[in-house]
Amino acid sequence: MEIHIVNNYQELSKKAANIVAEEIDQKSRVVLGLATGSTPEGMYAQLVKRYRDNKLDFDQVVTFNLDEYAGLSPDHPQSYYYYMRCNLFDHVNIKPDNIFVPSCFNNKDAGVVCGEYDRKIDQSGGIDLQVLGIGVNGHIGFNEPGQHLQTQTHLVDLVEETIEANSRFFDSIDQVPRQAVTMGVGSIMHSEKIMLMANGKNKARAIQESFGGLVSTRVPASLLQLHRNFILLIDKEAASLF
Ligand code: PGA
Repeated sequence: MEIHIVNNYQELSKKAANIVAEEIDQKSRVVLGLATGSTPEGMYAQLVKRYRDNKLDFDQVVTFNLDEYAGLSPDHPQSYYYYMRCNLFDHVNIKPDNIFVPSCFNNKDAGVVCGEYDRKIDQSGGIDLQVLGIGVNGHIGFNEPGQHLQTQTHLVDLVEETIEANSRFFDSIDQVPRQAVTMGVGSIMHSEKIMLMANGKNKARAIQESFGGLVSTRVPASLLQLHRNFILLIDKEAASLF
């Protein structure tokens, strides 16, 4: 595990963008696994800036998003697809055919959506760099704490803690979808390289529990300790209990 502790959110965003940009520069074609949420917003802003400055080219970049709310169409303002358009896709030269988000809406069969998603990841040759945030409960993607973790992309019932944490993006907590489609921990762990980002005091406990020692399905991010090419990128506040 490679650990970087930076001073603040701006440094976190720049460092994360450096790691992603290096990956894009090094390979003729790169497959990125992408995360949503507040944490990577600054990193996406940095990547867009570098594209505008002609320092980064997304022409040969393929992306797979970690997760998506079930029941929200891609044009729903709270969908993760919409988030990705606003924060990255609409501002860079990525090809629409190279964008993948596990969307499950209009009564699509979740089993079919999940199976197809895993197949597409396989067909693309697997993920070169997976970007992750972490939930206050230690979840990665929507792999929630529990007795078991699923390896492949699947439909998941969100736990109360996650619904509450994500309600800040909706007008009311009742509007937060109760289910989501998420890559499983197997899909994440098969990535060539993984970078988890976290900032702020409210993530300190999750960071301590995930990387301070034991590996447990009750803290899904702790599994990342077993990955051979894992980068933990956190600010001082998130590192304060570590
Ligand atoms: P956040 O979400 O970046 O909005 O804190 C992270 C997560 O829940 O994985």
